[in-house]
Amino acid sequence: MLPDYLIPVLLTPVRDRSRTGRDPCCRLWSNMLPCCAVRVCHVLMLVLCLSAAEDFDWTKNNHDSFYYGTFPTGFSWGAGSSAYQTEGAWDKDGKGLSIWDVFSHKKGKIQQNDTGDSSCEGYYKFKDDTSLMKELKLNHYRFSISWPRIIPTGVKSDHINEKGIQYYNELIDHLLENKITPIVTLYHWDLPQVLQEKYGGWQNISMINHFNEFANLCFERFGNRVKYWITFNNPWSVAVEGYETGEHAPGLRLRGTGAYKAAHHIIKAHAKVWHTYDTLWRGKQQGLVGISLSGDWGEPVDITNQKDIEAAERYVQFYLGWFATPVFHGDYPQVMKDFVGRKSVHQGLGTSRLPMFSPQEKSYMKGTCDFLGIGHFTTRYITHKSYPSGRSGTSYFTDRDLAELVDPRWPDPGSEWLYSVPWGFRRLLNFVKTQYGNPMIYVTENGVSEKMSCTELCDEWRIQYYKDYINEMLKAIRDGVNVKGYTAWSLLDKFEWDEGYSERFGLYYVDFRNKNKPRYPKASVQFYKRIISFNGFPNQREVENWRRKAVETCSSSNQLLAAARRESKEHAEMPKVWPVHDEV
Ligand code: NOJ
Repeated sequence: MLPDYLIPVLLTPVRDRSRTGRDPCCRLWSNMLPCCAVRVCHVLMLVLCLSAAEDFDWTKNNHDSFYYGTFPTGFSWGAGSSAYQTEGAWDKDGKGLSIWDVFSHKKGKIQQNDTGDSSCEGYYKFKDDTSLMKELKLNHYRFSISWPRIIPTGVKSDHINEKGIQYYNELIDHLLENKITPIVTLYHWDLPQVLQEKYGGWQNISMINHFNEFANLCFERFGNRVKYWITFNNPWSVAVEGYETGEHAPGLRLRGTGAYKAAHHIIKAHAKVWHTYDTLWRGKQQGLVGISLSGDWGEPVDITNQKDIEAAERYVQFYLGWFATPVFHGDYPQVMKDFVGRKSVHQGLGTSRLPMFSPQEKSYMKGTCDFLGIGHFTTRYITHKSYPSGRSGTSYFTDRDLAELVDPRWPDPGSEWLYSVPWGFRRLLNFVKTQYGNPMIYVTENGVSEKMSCTELCDEWRIQYYKDYINEMLKAIRDGVNVKGYTAWSLLDKFEWDEGYSERFGLYYVDFRNKNKPRYPKASVQFYKRIISFNGFPNQREVENWRRKAVETCSSSNQLLAAARRESKEHAEMPKVWPVHDEV
């Protein structure tokens, strides 16, 4: 019986059916297993390697009290953004179209039919934004390179747009002059439209080479100064929302197959780019190449119930493990292979809808991750739920045989899907430690939104979110998890994909109604800045003081924003950047 207070999160239409046995899956897999001895050997080695992962203890969830203490010396504090979400200048200086330009211009795809055409005008305001970062005393800034801005058709041999290269050169140089380390993402979802139209985007294997060429160009032009590269941001979203549900560009609904195929090509593209860096550039540039994976935590509804534990593990494996297991261990999680394989057999398919890697591909992929980027926002309770595996109605979601639930007592100040559950962050980080050999982790995204209707700069709920999530990360480090840096998401309010501008994640408020897109600090700026300066949390009194002062300062910013709004009705001119008045 589920506790009364849990409520289900409905992601897909639900049809119940009791769970079927495993035999057909075994049949499928024995058909697929290659019979030559070398291959069997490889498979055995892989099984050994996978089982070498430490066990994660699902049965203990420590809700320790707040921990006052500091982060390790040299811990890197940052904030993030992505090209399509902030740059604007969608058709300027020779930039080609991306799938998001085209998708957002179609009516009905984005809340209020918003587009990223001008967004925060980050393309023109990167110097102002660097001042904001300096004010925060950030150690790093995470941004992404727009592929069509530097290669307009996506194909390097067609044309390189030197103006686009120049923009990123200036941004990188300016950050470095200000002692801010750039952490650069190569793919934050904005595929060149030509590649979508000509080849079907990530459904097509040719993307691997095109992406590798693009990455190689970035290493060549920027790699003397950029030392942290992230190949893909949140490939889960690209695959599932781009090719399965169609909520994101390119808007395809290839249920049950599209996401798996896209992910397969993305994982191979990641591995190829890692090898390119490793063989051609690492020697002289001495940088690191990782991938940034998104992972909500899945907690068993009942941690003493084995079926709930298995369902929760499936949730995490189908989410984070789908990408992390190949890059660390060389293959998909066993549970994904079992579940998708079994359901494919029931559908009468000859092979699994989850593609397979060849033995050569497995060894090529294994270990292609110098650091793991983790984007984390929220948690779900998970319980087992069987879905039928008939010909129709199969999808990534039903393949997992589980139900997602939330506790309505969890705070949810902004996005519908985002409940604040700080302890889930520590659980996720510990899970990563046990599964992938305690890799070097950079938290590449963590933060909380508010609804657009709320023009409140006194974002106490965000202060609370950051305070508690960062504290859980500190506890995870104390548990032995190797976290090297943290990136608040995001520096600015920005285009929030299919939600348009209706959800604001920024530390800085952006007045999108004003064509100058002025930035205003929210109270959380002050609070985050204190955490950075102290490199942690001193004691309860001090931390409470930080909160109080932050809230005091923001009430005057609120008044100024209101006054600017009134004034802007008469004059179009606005302050470009609002200075932060506070000394730490
Ligand atoms: C993850 C995405 O990478 C990022 O672009 C987005 O803003 C956040 N999720 C919040 O939805």
